[in-house]
Amino acid sequence: MELPKHPHHSLFIFVFGLVLVFPSALSWKDAVTHVHQFVIQEASVKRLCKTQHVMTVNGMYPGPTLEIKNGDTLSVKVINKGKYNVTIHWHGVRQMRTGWADGPEFVTQCPIRPGGSYTYRFTVRGQEGTLWWHAHSSWLRATVYGALLIQPREGTNFPFAKPDRQSTLLLGEWWNANPVDVVREATRTGAAPNISDAYTINGQPGDLYNCSTQGFFFSLIKLNTVVVPISSGETNLLRVVNSAMNQPLFFTIANHKFTVVGADASYVKPFTTSVLMLGPGQTTDVLISGDQPAGRYYMAARAYQSAQNAPFDNTTTTAILEYKSAACSSANPIMPRLPAFNDTPTVTAFSTSFRSRERALVPAQIDESLFFTVGLGLNNCPPNFNASQQCQGPNGTRFTASMNNVSFSLPSNFSLLQAHIQGIRGVFTSDFPAAPPRVFDYTGNVSRSLWQPATGTKLYRLKYGSRVQVVLQDTSIVTPENHPIHLHGYDFYIIAEGFGNYNPKTDSSKFNLVDPPLRNTAAVPVGGWAVIRFVADNPGVWLMHCHLDVHITWGLAMAFLVEDGVGKLEAIEPPPEDLPICS
Ligand code: C2O
Repeated sequence: MELPKHPHHSLFIFVFGLVLVFPSALSWKDAVTHVHQFVIQEASVKRLCKTQHVMTVNGMYPGPTLEIKNGDTLSVKVINKGKYNVTIHWHGVRQMRTGWADGPEFVTQCPIRPGGSYTYRFTVRGQEGTLWWHAHSSWLRATVYGALLIQPREGTNFPFAKPDRQSTLLLGEWWNANPVDVVREATRTGAAPNISDAYTINGQPGDLYNCSTQGFFFSLIKLNTVVVPISSGETNLLRVVNSAMNQPLFFTIANHKFTVVGADASYVKPFTTSVLMLGPGQTTDVLISGDQPAGRYYMAARAYQSAQNAPFDNTTTTAILEYKSAACSSANPIMPRLPAFNDTPTVTAFSTSFRSRERALVPAQIDESLFFTVGLGLNNCPPNFNASQQCQGPNGTRFTASMNNVSFSLPSNFSLLQAHIQGIRGVFTSDFPAAPPRVFDYTGNVSRSLWQPATGTKLYRLKYGSRVQVVLQDTSIVTPENHPIHLHGYDFYIIAEGFGNYNPKTDSSKFNLVDPPLRNTAAVPVGGWAVIRFVADNPGVWLMHCHLDVHITWGLAMAFLVEDGVGKLEAIEPPPEDLPICS
Protein backbone atom coordinates (compact mmCIF):
# COMPACT_ATOMS: atom_id res chain seq x y z
CA MET A 1 0.00 0.00 0.00
CA GLU A 2 1.01 3.58 -0.34
CA LEU A 3 2.87 5.53 2.21
CA PRO A 4 3.63 9.21 1.89
CA LYS A 5 7.29 9.67 1.20
CA HIS A 6 9.00 12.44 3.07
CA PRO A 7 12.36 10.83 3.70
CA HIS A 8 14.04 14.20 4.06
CA HIS A 9 11.99 15.32 7.02
CA SER A 10 13.94 14.37 10.08
CA LEU A 11 11.18 14.88 12.60
CA PHE A 12 7.92 14.70 10.77
CA ILE A 13 5.84 11.68 10.15
CA PHE A 14 3.08 12.49 7.76
CA VAL A 15 -0.20 10.70 8.09
CA PHE A 16 -2.81 10.68 5.42
CA GLY A 17 -6.42 11.02 6.37
CA LEU A 18 -7.32 8.22 4.06
CA VAL A 19 -5.43 6.42 1.38
CA LEU A 20 -7.03 3.66 -0.58
CA VAL A 21 -5.61 2.13 -3.68
CA PHE A 22 -7.55 -0.27 -5.80
CA PRO A 23 -7.31 -1.46 -9.37
CA SER A 24 -9.51 0.49 -11.68
CA ALA A 25 -11.67 -1.34 -14.14
CA LEU A 26 -11.66 1.64 -16.47
CA SER A 27 -8.01 2.56 -16.84
CA TRP A 28 -5.05 0.92 -18.48
CA LYS A 29 -4.09 -2.55 -17.48
CA ASP A 30 -2.39 -2.37 -14.08
CA ALA A 31 -3.36 1.27 -13.59
CA VAL A 32 -4.85 2.05 -10.22
CA THR A 33 -7.07 4.68 -8.68
CA HIS A 34 -5.70 6.54 -5.68
CA VAL A 35 -8.35 7.87 -3.34
CA HIS A 36 -7.44 10.75 -1.04
CA GLN A 37 -9.21 13.17 1.20
CA PHE A 38 -8.02 16.76 1.50
CA VAL A 39 -9.54 18.63 4.41
CA ILE A 40 -8.93 22.35 4.05
CA GLN A 41 -8.48 23.58 7.58
CA GLU A 42 -6.76 26.31 9.54
CA ALA A 43 -3.65 25.34 11.46
CA SER A 44 -1.17 27.29 13.53
CA VAL A 45 2.29 27.23 12.08
CA LYS A 46 5.26 28.77 13.85
CA ARG A 47 8.00 30.16 11.65
CA LEU A 48 10.58 32.90 12.29
CA CYS A 49 9.56 32.85 15.96
CA LYS A 50 5.99 33.86 15.19
CA THR A 51 2.84 31.81 14.98
CA GLN A 52 0.50 32.30 12.03
CA HIS A 53 -2.92 30.82 11.48
CA VAL A 54 -2.83 29.60 7.92
CA MET A 55 -4.93 27.40 5.68
CA THR A 56 -3.60 23.89 5.17
CA VAL A 57 -4.56 20.54 3.75
CA ASN A 58 -5.09 18.05 6.61
CA GLY A 59 -3.21 20.39 8.96
CA MET A 60 0.04 19.90 7.04
CA TYR A 61 2.35 22.60 5.72
CA PRO A 62 3.34 21.93 3.01
CA GLY A 63 0.50 19.58 2.19
CA PRO A 64 0.63 15.85 1.52
CA THR A 65 2.78 14.43 -1.25
CA LEU A 66 0.80 12.41 -3.74
CA GLU A 67 2.69 9.62 -5.46
CA ILE A 68 1.31 7.78 -8.44
CA LYS A 69 2.43 6.05 -11.61
CA ASN A 70 1.95 7.32 -15.10
CA GLY A 71 -1.44 5.93 -16.14
CA ASP A 72 -3.02 6.05 -12.68
CA THR A 73 -6.17 7.87 -11.68
CA LEU A 74 -6.53 10.26 -8.76
CA SER A 75 -9.75 10.84 -6.90
CA VAL A 76 -9.28 13.56 -4.31
CA LYS A 77 -12.22 14.68 -2.22
CA VAL A 78 -11.64 18.25 -1.04
CA ILE A 79 -13.67 19.20 2.02
CA ASN A 80 -13.59 22.89 2.89
CA LYS A 81 -13.54 23.33 6.64
CA GLY A 82 -11.79 26.69 6.36
CA LYS A 83 -13.22 30.18 6.27
CA TYR A 84 -12.35 31.04 2.69
CA ASN A 85 -13.56 29.88 -0.70
CA VAL A 86 -11.07 27.41 -2.12
CA THR A 87 -10.24 25.32 -5.18
CA ILE A 88 -7.34 22.97 -5.88
CA HIS A 89 -5.41 22.99 -9.17
CA TRP A 90 -3.29 20.05 -10.33
CA HIS A 91 -0.51 22.07 -11.87
CA GLY A 92 0.70 20.59 -15.13
CA VAL A 93 -1.75 17.68 -15.32
CA ARG A 94 -3.08 17.58 -18.87
CA GLN A 95 -6.66 16.86 -17.74
CA MET A 96 -7.56 15.35 -21.11
CA ARG A 97 -11.34 15.84 -21.42
CA THR A 98 -11.57 16.35 -17.66
CA GLY A 99 -11.33 20.14 -17.60
CA TRP A 100 -13.90 20.24 -14.76
CA ALA A 101 -11.17 18.90 -12.49
CA ASP A 102 -8.56 21.53 -13.42
CA GLY A 103 -9.40 23.84 -10.55
CA PRO A 104 -8.81 27.57 -11.22
CA GLU A 105 -11.71 29.35 -9.57
CA PHE A 106 -14.29 30.96 -11.86
CA VAL A 107 -12.49 29.39 -14.84
CA THR A 108 -13.35 25.67 -14.66
CA GLN A 109 -15.50 25.73 -11.51
CA CYS A 110 -16.98 28.00 -8.92
CA PRO A 111 -15.13 27.90 -5.60
CA ILE A 112 -15.81 25.30 -2.93
CA ARG A 113 -17.56 27.37 -0.27
CA PRO A 114 -16.78 26.93 3.43
CA GLY A 115 -18.67 23.78 4.42
CA GLY A 116 -18.73 22.47 0.85
CA SER A 117 -16.82 19.72 -0.89
CA TYR A 118 -15.85 18.58 -4.37
CA THR A 119 -14.12 15.47 -5.67
CA TYR A 120 -11.44 16.01 -8.31
CA ARG A 121 -11.17 12.91 -10.46
CA PHE A 122 -8.70 12.61 -13.32
CA THR A 123 -6.17 10.31 -14.94
CA VAL A 124 -2.52 11.16 -15.49
CA ARG A 125 -1.36 9.75 -18.79
CA GLY A 126 1.86 10.23 -20.73
CA GLN A 127 3.48 12.38 -18.06
CA GLU A 128 6.35 11.27 -15.80
CA GLY A 129 8.40 13.23 -13.32
CA THR A 130 7.32 15.96 -10.96
CA LEU A 131 4.20 18.08 -10.87
CA TRP A 132 2.46 19.67 -7.93
CA TRP A 133 -0.92 20.81 -6.70
CA HIS A 134 -1.94 24.11 -5.17
CA ALA A 135 -4.94 26.19 -4.17
CA HIS A 136 -6.12 28.39 -7.04
CA SER A 137 -8.12 30.95 -5.13
CA SER A 138 -6.90 34.28 -3.73
CA TRP A 139 -3.42 33.77 -2.26
CA LEU A 140 -4.21 30.53 -0.48
CA ARG A 141 -1.60 28.67 -2.43
CA ALA A 142 1.07 30.31 -0.24
CA THR A 143 0.40 27.52 2.26
CA VAL A 144 -1.96 25.15 0.43
CA TYR A 145 0.33 23.21 -1.88
CA GLY A 146 2.16 19.91 -2.21
CA ALA A 147 4.02 17.64 -4.59
CA LEU A 148 2.58 15.25 -7.16
CA LEU A 149 5.19 12.64 -8.03
CA ILE A 150 4.61 10.58 -11.15
CA GLN A 151 6.73 7.43 -11.29
CA PRO A 152 7.31 5.53 -14.54
CA ARG A 153 4.36 3.60 -15.87
CA GLU A 154 3.91 0.07 -14.51
CA GLY A 155 6.43 -2.24 -16.17
CA THR A 156 8.71 0.59 -17.38
CA ASN A 157 11.74 2.38 -15.95
CA PHE A 158 13.32 5.78 -15.89
CA PRO A 159 15.26 6.55 -19.07
CA PHE A 160 18.35 6.69 -16.85
CA ALA A 161 19.84 4.42 -14.18
CA LYS A 162 17.39 3.95 -11.36
CA PRO A 163 18.31 6.41 -8.59
CA ASP A 164 19.08 4.96 -5.15
CA ARG A 165 16.91 7.55 -3.47
CA GLN A 166 14.38 10.23 -4.35
CA SER A 167 13.79 13.46 -2.47
CA THR A 168 11.33 16.25 -3.11
CA LEU A 169 12.23 19.88 -2.47
CA LEU A 170 9.34 22.34 -2.54
CA LEU A 171 10.62 25.92 -2.58
CA GLY A 172 8.10 28.21 -0.97
CA GLU A 173 7.56 31.71 0.32
CA TRP A 174 6.50 32.72 3.82
CA TRP A 175 4.95 35.87 5.24
CA ASN A 176 4.75 36.89 8.88
CA ALA A 177 1.12 37.54 8.05
CA ASN A 178 -1.93 35.86 6.61
CA PRO A 179 -1.25 35.79 2.84
CA VAL A 180 -4.92 36.48 2.12
CA ASP A 181 -4.62 39.71 4.13
CA VAL A 182 -1.45 40.62 2.21
CA VAL A 183 -3.21 40.46 -1.15
CA ARG A 184 -6.38 42.12 0.15
CA GLU A 185 -4.32 45.04 1.42
CA ALA A 186 -2.59 45.39 -1.96
CA THR A 187 -5.91 45.27 -3.79
CA ARG A 188 -7.23 47.99 -1.50
CA THR A 189 -4.24 50.32 -1.82
CA GLY A 190 -3.31 49.69 -5.44
CA ALA A 191 0.32 49.36 -4.37
CA ALA A 192 2.54 46.30 -4.69
CA PRO A 193 1.90 43.71 -1.97
CA ASN A 194 4.35 43.36 0.90
CA ILE A 195 7.33 41.21 0.07
CA SER A 196 7.67 37.89 1.87
CA ASP A 197 9.72 37.45 5.04
CA ALA A 198 11.39 34.18 4.11
CA TYR A 199 11.76 31.54 1.48
CA THR A 200 11.35 27.96 2.53
CA ILE A 201 12.39 24.45 1.53
CA ASN A 202 9.64 21.96 2.40
CA GLY A 203 8.14 24.63 4.61
CA GLN A 204 11.31 25.40 6.58
CA PRO A 205 13.29 28.64 6.16
CA GLY A 206 16.56 27.04 7.24
CA ASP A 207 19.57 28.20 9.19
CA LEU A 208 20.15 31.71 7.85
CA TYR A 209 17.16 33.43 9.44
CA ASN A 210 16.80 34.89 12.89
CA CYS A 211 15.07 32.42 15.14
CA SER A 212 15.97 29.52 12.96
CA THR A 213 17.97 27.70 15.58
CA GLN A 214 16.78 28.13 19.11
CA GLY A 215 19.75 27.09 21.16
CA PHE A 216 22.05 24.14 21.15
CA PHE A 217 19.40 21.47 21.60
CA PHE A 218 17.34 22.63 18.64
CA SER A 219 20.35 23.03 16.44
CA LEU A 220 21.23 19.43 17.22
CA ILE A 221 17.88 18.08 16.14
CA LYS A 222 17.66 20.54 13.26
CA LEU A 223 14.10 21.52 14.05
CA ASN A 224 13.96 24.25 11.46
CA THR A 225 16.08 22.90 8.68
CA VAL A 226 15.27 20.13 6.26
CA VAL A 227 17.91 17.43 5.94
CA VAL A 228 18.29 15.45 2.73
CA PRO A 229 20.28 12.26 3.28
CA ILE A 230 22.76 10.82 0.82
CA SER A 231 25.27 7.96 1.06
CA SER A 232 28.70 8.00 -0.52
CA GLY A 233 28.50 6.61 -4.02
CA GLU A 234 24.75 6.72 -4.36
CA THR A 235 22.62 8.72 -6.77
CA ASN A 236 19.74 10.80 -5.47
CA LEU A 237 16.94 12.06 -7.71
CA LEU A 238 15.98 15.51 -6.47
CA ARG A 239 12.61 16.82 -7.54
CA VAL A 240 12.76 20.60 -7.22
CA VAL A 241 9.54 22.61 -7.42
CA ASN A 242 9.22 26.38 -7.31
CA SER A 243 6.03 26.79 -5.31
CA ALA A 244 6.89 30.35 -4.27
CA MET A 245 4.23 32.98 -4.85
CA ASN A 246 6.06 35.79 -6.60
CA GLN A 247 9.70 35.02 -7.04
CA PRO A 248 11.79 33.13 -9.58
CA LEU A 249 14.51 31.36 -7.59
CA PHE A 250 18.06 30.15 -8.08
CA PHE A 251 18.85 26.81 -6.46
CA THR A 252 22.26 25.27 -5.87
CA ILE A 253 24.14 22.81 -3.62
CA ALA A 254 27.68 23.34 -2.34
CA ASN A 255 30.28 21.31 -4.26
CA HIS A 256 27.71 19.12 -6.09
CA LYS A 257 26.75 19.24 -9.73
CA PHE A 258 23.26 18.59 -11.04
CA THR A 259 22.43 16.40 -14.00
CA VAL A 260 19.09 17.72 -15.21
CA VAL A 261 16.90 14.84 -16.43
CA GLY A 262 13.39 16.26 -16.44
CA ALA A 263 11.22 19.33 -16.15
CA ASP A 264 7.47 19.82 -15.75
CA ALA A 265 6.95 16.02 -15.90
CA SER A 266 8.71 15.51 -19.24
CA TYR A 267 12.14 13.96 -19.61
CA VAL A 268 14.93 16.05 -21.12
CA LYS A 269 18.30 15.22 -22.65
CA PRO A 270 20.57 15.14 -19.61
CA PHE A 271 22.87 18.13 -19.10
CA THR A 272 24.96 19.22 -16.16
CA THR A 273 24.87 22.52 -14.34
CA SER A 274 25.78 23.79 -10.91
CA VAL A 275 22.76 26.09 -10.58
CA LEU A 276 19.06 25.87 -11.45
CA MET A 277 16.62 28.70 -11.98
CA LEU A 278 12.92 27.95 -11.64
CA GLY A 279 10.09 30.37 -12.15
CA PRO A 280 7.10 29.79 -9.88
CA GLY A 281 5.17 26.82 -11.29
CA GLN A 282 8.19 25.14 -12.85
CA THR A 283 9.68 21.83 -11.70
CA THR A 284 13.14 20.42 -12.42
CA ASP A 285 14.27 16.84 -11.78
CA VAL A 286 18.01 16.46 -11.24
CA LEU A 287 20.38 13.66 -10.30
CA ILE A 288 23.14 14.28 -7.79
CA SER A 289 25.78 11.79 -6.77
CA GLY A 290 27.38 11.29 -3.41
CA ASP A 291 30.82 11.82 -4.88
CA GLN A 292 32.16 14.38 -2.40
CA PRO A 293 33.93 13.89 0.93
CA ALA A 294 31.38 12.69 3.49
CA GLY A 295 30.11 15.81 5.18
CA ARG A 296 27.29 18.30 5.27
CA TYR A 297 26.57 20.67 2.42
CA TYR A 298 24.01 23.44 2.22
CA MET A 299 21.47 23.48 -0.56
CA ALA A 300 20.29 27.04 -0.96
CA ALA A 301 17.72 29.07 -2.87
CA ARG A 302 17.37 32.79 -3.30
CA ALA A 303 15.80 35.31 -5.65
CA TYR A 304 16.43 35.80 -9.33
CA GLN A 305 15.20 39.37 -9.54
CA SER A 306 14.89 40.74 -13.06
CA ALA A 307 12.52 43.63 -12.38
CA GLN A 308 14.14 46.99 -11.81
CA ASN A 309 13.60 49.24 -8.81
CA ALA A 310 11.15 46.83 -7.23
CA PRO A 311 11.60 45.71 -3.64
CA PHE A 312 12.06 41.96 -3.24
CA ASP A 313 12.82 39.41 -0.56
CA ASN A 314 16.61 39.09 -0.74
CA THR A 315 16.93 36.37 1.91
CA THR A 316 18.34 32.88 1.40
CA THR A 317 16.67 29.61 2.39
CA THR A 318 18.73 26.52 3.09
CA ALA A 319 18.44 22.79 3.62
CA ILE A 320 21.28 20.38 4.34
CA LEU A 321 22.57 17.60 2.12
CA GLU A 322 23.99 15.23 4.68
CA TYR A 323 26.18 12.21 4.03
CA LYS A 324 24.98 9.39 6.25
CA SER A 325 28.40 8.90 7.78
CA ALA A 326 28.53 12.59 8.73
CA ALA A 327 25.14 12.68 10.42
CA CYS A 328 26.57 13.32 13.88
CA SER A 329 29.11 15.85 12.72
CA SER A 330 28.85 19.22 14.38
CA ALA A 331 30.82 21.05 11.71
CA ASN A 332 28.91 23.79 9.93
CA PRO A 333 27.71 22.75 6.51
CA ILE A 334 29.61 24.14 3.54
CA MET A 335 27.77 27.07 1.95
CA PRO A 336 27.48 27.30 -1.85
CA ARG A 337 27.93 30.45 -3.89
CA LEU A 338 24.72 31.71 -5.43
CA PRO A 339 24.48 33.83 -8.59
CA ALA A 340 23.91 37.56 -8.20
CA PHE A 341 20.22 38.48 -7.89
CA ASN A 342 20.17 39.93 -11.40
CA ASP A 343 22.34 37.30 -13.10
CA THR A 344 20.34 36.98 -16.31
CA PRO A 345 23.23 35.41 -18.31
CA THR A 346 23.19 32.43 -15.92
CA VAL A 347 19.42 32.13 -16.38
CA THR A 348 19.78 32.20 -20.17
CA ALA A 349 22.57 29.62 -20.19
CA PHE A 350 20.36 27.36 -18.10
CA SER A 351 17.06 27.81 -19.95
CA THR A 352 18.63 27.37 -23.38
CA SER A 353 20.21 24.03 -22.34
CA PHE A 354 16.88 22.20 -22.37
CA ARG A 355 16.14 19.66 -25.14
CA SER A 356 13.42 17.08 -25.17
CA ARG A 357 14.67 13.55 -24.77
CA GLU A 358 12.61 12.04 -27.55
CA ARG A 359 12.10 13.48 -30.98
CA ALA A 360 9.51 16.15 -30.38
CA LEU A 361 6.04 16.04 -31.93
CA VAL A 362 6.13 19.77 -32.50
CA PRO A 363 3.76 20.94 -35.23
CA ALA A 364 5.73 22.18 -38.24
CA GLN A 365 2.76 23.98 -39.79
CA ILE A 366 0.69 26.51 -37.89
CA ASP A 367 -3.04 27.26 -38.08
CA GLU A 368 -3.06 30.03 -35.49
CA SER A 369 -0.18 32.45 -35.26
CA LEU A 370 -0.62 34.53 -32.12
CA PHE A 371 1.42 37.33 -30.62
CA PHE A 372 0.77 38.21 -26.97
CA THR A 373 2.45 40.99 -25.07
CA VAL A 374 2.88 40.29 -21.36
CA GLY A 375 3.61 43.03 -18.90
CA LEU A 376 2.66 45.45 -16.20
CA GLY A 377 0.82 48.76 -16.27
CA LEU A 378 -0.30 51.63 -14.10
CA ASN A 379 -3.86 52.91 -13.97
CA ASN A 380 -4.51 56.53 -13.17
CA CYS A 381 -6.48 56.94 -9.98
CA PRO A 382 -10.17 56.51 -10.87
CA PRO A 383 -12.28 59.59 -10.03
CA ASN A 384 -14.40 57.77 -7.42
CA PHE A 385 -11.30 56.52 -5.54
CA ASN A 386 -9.72 58.07 -2.49
CA ALA A 387 -6.31 58.91 -3.93
CA SER A 388 -4.33 58.87 -0.69
CA GLN A 389 -5.68 55.47 0.35
CA GLN A 390 -6.54 53.60 -2.80
CA CYS A 391 -3.94 54.86 -5.26
CA GLN A 392 -0.68 54.14 -3.52
CA GLY A 393 1.09 52.83 -6.62
CA PRO A 394 3.87 54.92 -8.22
CA ASN A 395 2.86 58.61 -8.53
CA GLY A 396 -0.66 58.10 -7.24
CA THR A 397 -1.60 55.22 -9.57
CA ARG A 398 -2.80 51.64 -9.14
CA PHE A 399 -0.77 48.69 -10.41
CA THR A 400 -2.26 46.60 -13.19
CA ALA A 401 -1.02 44.03 -15.71
CA SER A 402 -2.23 42.67 -19.02
CA MET A 403 -1.79 40.47 -22.05
CA ASN A 404 -2.33 42.28 -25.36
CA ASN A 405 -3.55 45.28 -23.40
CA VAL A 406 -6.40 43.31 -21.80
CA SER A 407 -6.30 43.11 -18.02
CA PHE A 408 -8.13 39.87 -17.29
CA SER A 409 -11.02 39.91 -14.90
CA LEU A 410 -12.71 36.74 -13.66
CA PRO A 411 -16.49 36.38 -13.65
CA SER A 412 -18.25 35.89 -10.32
CA ASN A 413 -21.61 34.42 -11.29
CA PHE A 414 -20.58 31.43 -13.43
CA SER A 415 -17.34 29.68 -14.24
CA LEU A 416 -16.12 30.31 -17.77
CA LEU A 417 -16.33 26.59 -18.57
CA GLN A 418 -19.89 26.32 -17.33
CA ALA A 419 -20.86 29.42 -19.32
CA HIS A 420 -19.27 27.90 -22.42
CA ILE A 421 -20.83 24.42 -22.08
CA GLN A 422 -24.29 25.68 -21.11
CA GLY A 423 -24.26 28.57 -23.57
CA ILE A 424 -24.77 31.22 -20.89
CA ARG A 425 -24.30 34.61 -22.49
CA GLY A 426 -22.80 37.73 -20.97
CA VAL A 427 -20.15 35.93 -18.90
CA PHE A 428 -17.27 36.31 -21.37
CA THR A 429 -16.57 37.47 -24.88
CA SER A 430 -14.55 35.53 -27.49
CA ASP A 431 -12.64 38.49 -28.85
CA PHE A 432 -9.26 38.23 -27.16
CA PRO A 433 -6.98 39.85 -29.77
CA ALA A 434 -4.53 37.67 -31.74
CA ALA A 435 -2.03 40.54 -31.64
CA PRO A 436 -1.64 43.70 -29.54
CA PRO A 437 -4.12 46.42 -30.57
CA ARG A 438 -1.22 48.82 -31.13
CA VAL A 439 2.23 47.94 -32.40
CA PHE A 440 4.94 49.69 -30.39
CA ASP A 441 8.57 49.22 -29.37
CA TYR A 442 7.66 46.68 -26.69
CA THR A 443 10.99 46.64 -24.90
CA GLY A 444 11.94 50.25 -25.58
CA ASN A 445 10.88 53.45 -23.92
CA VAL A 446 7.09 53.01 -23.99
CA SER A 447 4.91 56.13 -24.12
CA ARG A 448 2.95 56.68 -20.90
CA SER A 449 -0.23 56.68 -22.98
CA LEU A 450 0.16 52.91 -23.46
CA TRP A 451 0.44 52.04 -19.79
CA GLN A 452 -3.28 51.73 -19.03
CA PRO A 453 -4.84 48.48 -20.30
CA ALA A 454 -8.56 47.87 -20.71
CA THR A 455 -10.25 45.40 -18.38
CA GLY A 456 -12.07 42.45 -19.92
CA THR A 457 -13.05 38.79 -19.72
CA LYS A 458 -11.90 37.91 -23.21
CA LEU A 459 -11.24 34.39 -24.45
CA TYR A 460 -9.51 33.23 -27.62
CA ARG A 461 -11.44 30.53 -29.46
CA LEU A 462 -9.55 27.60 -30.95
CA LYS A 463 -10.90 24.88 -33.21
CA TYR A 464 -10.27 21.37 -31.94
CA GLY A 465 -6.93 20.15 -33.25
CA SER A 466 -5.66 23.51 -34.44
CA ARG A 467 -1.91 23.95 -34.38
CA VAL A 468 -1.09 27.02 -32.36
CA GLN A 469 1.98 29.21 -32.06
CA VAL A 470 2.15 31.96 -29.46
CA VAL A 471 4.93 34.52 -29.29
CA LEU A 472 5.08 35.71 -25.69
CA GLN A 473 6.62 39.17 -25.72
CA ASP A 474 7.65 40.91 -22.50
CA THR A 475 7.15 44.68 -22.35
CA SER A 476 9.18 47.29 -20.53
CA ILE A 477 6.06 49.05 -19.27
CA VAL A 478 6.82 49.94 -15.62
CA THR A 479 9.72 47.47 -15.81
CA PRO A 480 10.79 44.55 -17.96
CA GLU A 481 10.67 41.31 -16.01
CA ASN A 482 11.05 37.56 -16.45
CA HIS A 483 7.45 36.26 -16.46
CA PRO A 484 6.74 32.55 -15.85
CA ILE A 485 3.81 32.05 -18.23
CA HIS A 486 1.75 28.95 -17.42
CA LEU A 487 -0.84 27.32 -19.68
CA HIS A 488 -3.47 25.09 -18.11
CA GLY A 489 -4.52 21.84 -19.78
CA TYR A 490 -1.51 21.63 -22.08
CA ASP A 491 2.18 21.06 -22.37
CA PHE A 492 3.76 23.22 -25.05
CA TYR A 493 7.08 23.19 -26.84
CA ILE A 494 9.34 26.18 -26.30
CA ILE A 495 10.90 26.45 -29.75
CA ALA A 496 12.91 29.66 -29.26
CA GLU A 497 13.60 32.52 -26.89
CA GLY A 498 15.53 35.75 -27.14
CA PHE A 499 15.91 39.35 -26.03
CA GLY A 500 14.42 42.57 -27.33
CA ASN A 501 11.44 42.64 -29.69
CA TYR A 502 10.61 39.40 -31.49
CA ASN A 503 11.33 39.77 -35.19
CA PRO A 504 9.34 37.28 -37.31
CA LYS A 505 11.72 37.70 -40.27
CA THR A 506 14.96 36.89 -38.50
CA ASP A 507 13.99 35.07 -35.33
CA SER A 508 12.15 32.19 -36.99
CA SER A 509 15.57 30.96 -38.11
CA LYS A 510 16.22 30.16 -34.45
CA PHE A 511 13.26 27.79 -34.13
CA ASN A 512 14.11 24.35 -32.81
CA LEU A 513 11.55 22.04 -34.39
CA VAL A 514 13.62 18.92 -33.69
CA ASP A 515 14.01 18.56 -29.94
CA PRO A 516 12.58 21.59 -28.11
CA PRO A 517 11.64 21.07 -24.44
CA LEU A 518 8.02 20.32 -23.52
CA ARG A 519 6.89 22.46 -20.58
CA ASN A 520 3.77 23.80 -18.93
CA THR A 521 5.41 27.04 -17.77
CA ALA A 522 7.78 29.18 -19.86
CA ALA A 523 10.05 31.68 -18.15
CA VAL A 524 9.84 34.49 -20.72
CA PRO A 525 13.21 36.30 -20.70
CA VAL A 526 13.30 39.74 -19.11
CA GLY A 527 12.90 42.30 -21.88
CA GLY A 528 12.62 39.44 -24.36
CA TRP A 529 10.34 36.81 -25.85
CA ALA A 530 9.63 33.10 -26.08
CA VAL A 531 7.84 31.19 -28.83
CA ILE A 532 5.65 28.24 -27.86
CA ARG A 533 3.70 25.71 -29.93
CA PHE A 534 0.97 23.23 -29.07
CA VAL A 535 -1.88 21.34 -30.70
CA ALA A 536 -5.30 22.25 -29.29
CA ASP A 537 -6.37 18.66 -28.68
CA ASN A 538 -7.96 19.15 -25.26
CA PRO A 539 -11.41 20.76 -25.35
CA GLY A 540 -12.36 23.15 -22.56
CA VAL A 541 -11.50 26.55 -21.15
CA TRP A 542 -7.83 26.89 -20.28
CA LEU A 543 -6.30 29.73 -18.38
CA MET A 544 -2.93 31.10 -19.44
CA HIS A 545 -1.33 33.41 -16.93
CA CYS A 546 1.79 34.67 -15.29
CA HIS A 547 2.52 32.40 -12.33
CA LEU A 548 3.73 35.30 -10.21
CA ASP A 549 0.56 35.56 -8.14
CA VAL A 550 0.95 39.30 -7.79
CA HIS A 551 0.70 39.57 -11.58
CA ILE A 552 -2.34 37.31 -11.95
CA THR A 553 -3.95 39.43 -9.23
CA TRP A 554 -3.33 42.45 -11.46
CA GLY A 555 -4.79 40.73 -14.54
CA LEU A 556 -1.84 39.15 -16.37
CA ALA A 557 -3.94 36.35 -17.79
CA MET A 558 -6.21 35.26 -20.64
CA ALA A 559 -8.00 32.01 -21.45
CA PHE A 560 -8.32 29.80 -24.49
CA LEU A 561 -11.67 28.28 -25.35
CA VAL A 562 -10.94 25.03 -27.18
CA GLU A 563 -14.00 23.73 -28.99
CA ASP A 564 -15.06 20.10 -28.99
CA GLY A 565 -13.99 18.05 -31.99
CA VAL A 566 -15.95 15.26 -33.65
CA GLY A 567 -17.52 12.58 -31.47
CA LYS A 568 -17.32 11.76 -27.81
CA LEU A 569 -13.59 11.20 -27.62
CA GLU A 570 -12.91 14.70 -28.87
CA ALA A 571 -15.37 16.31 -26.48
CA ILE A 572 -15.08 17.37 -22.87
CA GLU A 573 -16.76 14.97 -20.45
CA PRO A 574 -20.02 16.04 -18.83
CA PRO A 575 -19.59 17.98 -15.57
CA PRO A 576 -19.41 15.90 -12.37
CA GLU A 577 -22.58 15.94 -10.28
CA ASP A 578 -20.92 17.61 -7.33
CA LEU A 579 -19.32 20.42 -9.36
CA PRO A 580 -19.62 23.58 -7.25
CA ILE A 581 -21.74 26.23 -8.88
CA CYS A 582 -21.78 29.88 -7.95
CA SER A 583 -25.26 30.56 -6.66
CU1 C2O B 1 0.00 26.58 -10.97
CU2 C2O B 1 -3.09 28.66 -12.81
O1 C2O B 1 -1.56 27.65 -11.89
